[in-house]
Amino acid sequence: MHFDFDTVPSRLGTDSQKWQKYANRDVLPLWVADMDFRSPPAIIDALQRRVADGIFGYARPVKSTVDAAVNALASRYGWSIDPTWIVWLPGLVCGLNVTAQAFAAPGEEVLCLTPVYPPFITAPKNSGRVSVTVPFILNSTAARWEIDWDALERAVTPRTKLFFLCNPHNPIARVFRRDELVRIADFCARHDLLLCSDEIHCDLILDSALPHLPTAMVAPDHAARTITLMAPSKTYNVPGLGTSFAIIPDSALRARFVRATAGIVAEVTCLGFTACEAAYRDSEPWRQALLATLRSNRDHLFATLEKSLPGVRIEAPIEATYLAWLNVADLGLADPIGHFESHGVGLSDGAFFGAPRSDYVRLNFGCPRATLDEALRRMAAAVAAIPGRA
Ligand SMILES: Cc1ncc(COP(=O)(O)O)c(C=O)c1O
Repeated sequence: MHFDFDTVPSRLGTDSQKWQKYANRDVLPLWVADMDFRSPPAIIDALQRRVADGIFGYARPVKSTVDAAVNALASRYGWSIDPTWIVWLPGLVCGLNVTAQAFAAPGEEVLCLTPVYPPFITAPKNSGRVSVTVPFILNSTAARWEIDWDALERAVTPRTKLFFLCNPHNPIARVFRRDELVRIADFCARHDLLLCSDEIHCDLILDSALPHLPTAMVAPDHAARTITLMAPSKTYNVPGLGTSFAIIPDSALRARFVRATAGIVAEVTCLGFTACEAAYRDSEPWRQALLATLRSNRDHLFATLEKSLPGVRIEAPIEATYLAWLNVADLGLADPIGHFESHGVGLSDGAFFGAPRSDYVRLNFGCPRATLDEALRRMAAAVAAIPGRA
């Protein structure tokens, strides 16, 4: 079956957050992580059927929706979960915030590895908890971002309660290996930390030699202290439908998590459940075609940077996600985001991810090739316009 990943959708003037940011400027938005692709036909069909019902009451997932998610975890990753472990959520960021509030007291600390998706850093702070960040180390010889285990040990204090892990990791696009995950789980157990593993990008692995390993599955002895966060949103491009879930095997932990959501966290909607079921059960051929498109975009991005964008580097392979972490320090720009915007490309500012100011930007290549090519052409012009670089 052929799926269309080439047509450039017209999102200008729509409710798209990504496109509204530059509504009155000719700037191609390659920032926030949604893709400029239509969702899988199976999702669109299921939503159309659901809308035709015309009744949109408060929703609870039906068995077929839960089965679709549970079966996807079993068939893709060999992870067997009990359906009662699932807590449905309207978003993963919400899950990070709830976790911080439920399992750390004000003033207590939450660890994470940087650079990282900004809500990992802001979620604890939103409710008076403290975010403690430990930078990855770039092993340039091996072209790999590595965990600084010594710094991690040193970062632990009597107030540390939680570890927020991002696997696969946004923005460095790294898939953690079994030995790393086991070591992280052991580290958490040794320091009596709860491990919250955000696996929203797990269905977007681009390196076919690397399996996604759910943290709670590879470290079963520590599963009782693990909260896993997942969603169909990134993979099937339905983040605007607000449907995600936490998997919490331990019943006491789950009860505490659910209590922290009471009266504050909105319910998932009927349309969100419909999309979720069609995503996990009926959209696998589309996902495989998407992965082929993303791999091709990724390879094209690497080749174009090398050929046409001196001073812009990706320092390690992109193993997963549709996000590229670009080192632009050599360009010597005080404001790389402003510079690229002024040449018509909107990127994410690395500073929000905990990177040194002005050194990194993030580029979203989840778009048709024509969009990516035009953005890269504009970026090459932006680099050439820097005095001394023409
Ligand atoms: C690691 C990670 N977690 C969570 C989210 C967002 O989750 P949600 O939209 O469900 O709040 C993103 C979005 O880019 C992400 O990259």
